[in-house]
Amino acid sequence: MTEKTYTVEEVRAGAPASAPAELVEWVTKIANLTTPKDIQWADGSKEEWDRLSEEMVKAGTLIRLNPEKRPNSFLARSLPSDVARVESRTFICSEKEEDAGPTNHWADPKEMKETLIGEKGVFRGAMRGRTMYVVPFSMGPLGGPISQLGIELTDSPYVVLNMRIMTRMGEGALKLIAAGKPWVPAVHSVGAPLADGEKDVAWPCNDEKYITHFPETNEIWSFGSGYGGNALLGKKCFALRIASTMGRRDMWMAEHMLILRLTDEKTGRQYHVTAAFPSACGKTNLAMLQPTIKGYKVETVGDDIAWMRPGKDGRLRAINPEAGFFGVAPGTSYDTNPMAMETMKANTIFTNVALTDDGDVWWEGIDGEQPEHLIDWQGNDFTKADTAAGKKAAHPNSRFTTPASQCPIICPDWEAPEGVAIDAILFGGRRATNVPLVAEQYTPAHGVFIGANVSSEVTAAALDVKAGALRHDPFAMLPFCGYNMADYWGHWLEMQKALGDKFPKVYQVNWFRKNADGKFLWPGYGENSRVLDWIVRRSAGEVEAVEGLTGLYPKREDFNLEGSGVSDADWETMYTLDPEAWEAEAADTEKYFSQFGDKLPAAVREELENLKKRIADAK
Ligand code: GTP
Ligand code: SPV
Ligand code: MN
Repeated sequence: MTEKTYTVEEVRAGAPASAPAELVEWVTKIANLTTPKDIQWADGSKEEWDRLSEEMVKAGTLIRLNPEKRPNSFLARSLPSDVARVESRTFICSEKEEDAGPTNHWADPKEMKETLIGEKGVFRGAMRGRTMYVVPFSMGPLGGPISQLGIELTDSPYVVLNMRIMTRMGEGALKLIAAGKPWVPAVHSVGAPLADGEKDVAWPCNDEKYITHFPETNEIWSFGSGYGGNALLGKKCFALRIASTMGRRDMWMAEHMLILRLTDEKTGRQYHVTAAFPSACGKTNLAMLQPTIKGYKVETVGDDIAWMRPGKDGRLRAINPEAGFFGVAPGTSYDTNPMAMETMKANTIFTNVALTDDGDVWWEGIDGEQPEHLIDWQGNDFTKADTAAGKKAAHPNSRFTTPASQCPIICPDWEAPEGVAIDAILFGGRRATNVPLVAEQYTPAHGVFIGANVSSEVTAAALDVKAGALRHDPFAMLPFCGYNMADYWGHWLEMQKALGDKFPKVYQVNWFRKNADGKFLWPGYGENSRVLDWIVRRSAGEVEAVEGLTGLYPKREDFNLEGSGVSDADWETMYTLDPEAWEAEAADTEKYFSQFGDKLPAAVREELENLKKRIADAK
């Protein structure tokens, strides 16, 4: 049969009146490339949400949860082959290979375009038999000076619903585009065209995947996956990979960071902290922290991404470009993260968690006893015997998509268009050994070295890297930096230079150091408020620090451990740094840095030399 073709007039007729001509033409072009059966313009309304979710329930893609337990909430189950980001299929298609750098997968933009949209391109006819949704969205508050616009074309209604939670989606964003604001074009297909009369599956996707970025033209093309960061293109593809390249051009920063406000209740003084931890290493948890020590209040601004620009006062100001949380479910409970539990009480999409017999959700680490019977994330019966056999009812990278506005401790200024002024920046990762609880930078350049030197045990957030293994994840941006990582470090140094002493101090943290028995030395979660407390008192000049191997360390007597259950011996262990082990670590860092050749900034190389000197002195 001949594929459906569209004329501009036809597409115009189905578009909202506010859609500008340039957009209608682009939509027509992509429609003629991907040949969907029809086109729907998403307006972001409640009516649209109800209609799409109902259709997806009928089609078996979504399961409606028990409305008495979890109103207006749904469960989706993906294919086992499509459960996380695919880093090996993520490409930066810059004109020059060196602009992608050795830590990214580079592809020649012309060749990649041929693969995607050439004569035999994977996008040709990719949406056949499906609806193409036009999804206008804003990253950041509508019309804000730091915000940016995009249009995602997708053949996945699951993506449309998730984008409605994660971004400011629909009519408002389209109006700004119509007013002439620039926007990022993002095309997404699950890559599963339907032949005439062919019945759809619950989770369409393709074994062949391409998550591609064209930094010079700000384009995103994603093919083959329906999951998370592969498919919700406003998130990692736009707000980190493309935005990081924009930030480099225009002197701002796009970072894989949570943003929180800490209020000292005695003085009323507010501090704003951002923190970069690799995927599934504790950003959402820290963002919603319930301090276990008295006198502090935490409010959430964002849990995954920060866009930061110098404000008029010369300070670094951050916004959360997202409107929702796409959080890791396992391990989340009223015990560990009560505010996340409260946020997801309604209007939430759960993906790859387990289902209880009374129509609610369940995962490993949630409160209470494991029910006798569950349906696991693949739709099979699951009992305690399965748990005993080492199986998981929820996928380790199962997630909740939930509106940030529902978070009981959402910061009153979380949508302030100009952002909040940042006082401190934390870097961390999962480190069972070597890295102490908290260390302060010696100098701004040392702060950049701390970020560049982040390593972490790999989690389940990416499909194709071995979980558990230690890997370098500089600035928690390894999978998300849209350009050469060494140039990115250079950009940090530039930003520090531009802001001078107004640039926030950097701290290295590690909640995950283990003792000889393999147990965490630090209780973590709400207890992390003790680290924030020390940082705040440091910045107020109230406490001194001692010079250590990796930075400035707290004095035991200055650090509030009262009631934490952390013994003096545990503290000792956390701050015992083995110079031999650090010698090996520095050698490994040197090898890692060498791949960047001349691009490695001299200041970062110097900081490695300084570390080596401190190690030699300690031996
Ligand atoms: P992404 O959404 O993938 O970017 O992850 P994230 O950095 O937001 O991680 P998240 O807060 O969701 O935490 C991931 C896992 O780490 C969860 O299972 C948490 O329970 C666990 N975790 C978070 N904070 C701590 C902590 O302070 N200590 C310990 N031991 N575990 C933690
Ligand atoms: C991460 O992996 O850092 C996430 C999940 O936040 S995803 O959106 O899938 O990238
Ligand atoms: Mn993340």
